[in-house]
Amino acid sequence: MSAAKENAAKGALEFIEDGMIVGLGSGTTTAYFIDLLGKKMKEERISVVGVVTSFDSEILAKKAGIPVMPLEGKVDLAVDGADIVRKDYVLKGGGGALTREKIVDYAAERFIVIADEPKADPGTTYPIVVEVIPFSYQYVMKEMGKLGLEAELRVGGKKLGPVVTDNSNFILDCVGEVRGNAGEFEKSLNSIPGVVENGVFSKFWKIIIGTGEGHYEF
Ligand code: A5P
Repeated sequence: MSAAKENAAKGALEFIEDGMIVGLGSGTTTAYFIDLLGKKMKEERISVVGVVTSFDSEILAKKAGIPVMPLEGKVDLAVDGADIVRKDYVLKGGGGALTREKIVDYAAERFIVIADEPKADPGTTYPIVVEVIPFSYQYVMKEMGKLGLEAELRVGGKKLGPVVTDNSNFILDCVGEVRGNAGEFEKSLNSIPGVVENGVFSKFWKIIIGTGEGHYEF
């Protein structure tokens, strides 16, 4: 139970309106949002349809009573967590859902990042995550090294061998810095053959930070 994560989720809930198509991110912070959204729909008798970003958020949406639909292009608002929050970018991918997250979050007219306060602390670091086609992983690791990023193949906790994503790919956790312009850096990682997507998100509408007492805009 994290009051700060729940309060960040409550901040995003204020932007929900009847009839919206809402992108449902992945992770523990978004799990609060999905649960609260389900409750809001019942209490206020509003209708919202979710577009999920992972098998995990699909299961949570169903549990919360939120109907889900495939991504057909239109998403009014997406709400998603982050591992690190900065003014010009956020880092995502701790849960390995970054590719579907980026598709849905970037498809949305408005994308709200929700995070608890430690994620905004300049001292907090997190690897840059990339999803790669399994065939390419060793090559991509070398290419990351040339960019000063030390890449490691993510292995499972309750499964032998590499983590396999919802898209049947591998994950590399790359220790290093986002260099220069975040948007350009994000694009440059995706230009490496074999990279499906990376966890640098430089396009968002708002970042809402949750604390033990409430929430504020970053
Ligand atoms: C999933 O791949 C991630 O991008 C999550 O959104 C991110 O790791 C935030 O997760 P928490 O809300 O669990 O910290």
